[in-house]
Amino acid sequence: MSYSQKVVDHYENPRNVGSFDKGDETVGTGMVGAPACGDVMKLQIKVNPSTGVIEDARFKTYGCGSAIASSSLVTEWVKGKTLSEAASLKNSQIAEELALPPVKIHCSILAEDAIKAAVEDYKKKHSN
Ligand code: FES
Ligand code: FES
Repeated sequence: MSYSQKVVDHYENPRNVGSFDKGDETVGTGMVGAPACGDVMKLQIKVNPSTGVIEDARFKTYGCGSAIASSSLVTEWVKGKTLSEAASLKNSQIAEELALPPVKIHCSILAEDAIKAAVEDYKKKHSN
């Protein structure tokens, strides 16, 4: 199988690799796994508490090239977005941007699940 140019680019030059302190009040963490292949993705957002805008993002992905590319792309996309904008991101947008083949669609779903989980985690921290 051949990877698209954009997948290769994000795989070879992943953006925003790393992590923030999980306990930080301004950080939301999403950790998800794909039962189909055992890949694991951690995606974190850093939010400005007064504006609700995501100012930064990080990821760590133990998985295939498409999963790494999907999470790298998402960390770029969510910067400057509100929490609800980030949570409404669709895996189909990721799959389309990276031209993922059908067998790699679940890799983009992993990235959608991870960003949604990160937003939920942030909201939970600020719900009381
Ligand atoms: Fe998950 Fe390729 S099957 S790394
Ligand atoms: Fe499973 Fe990509 S996340 S093969």
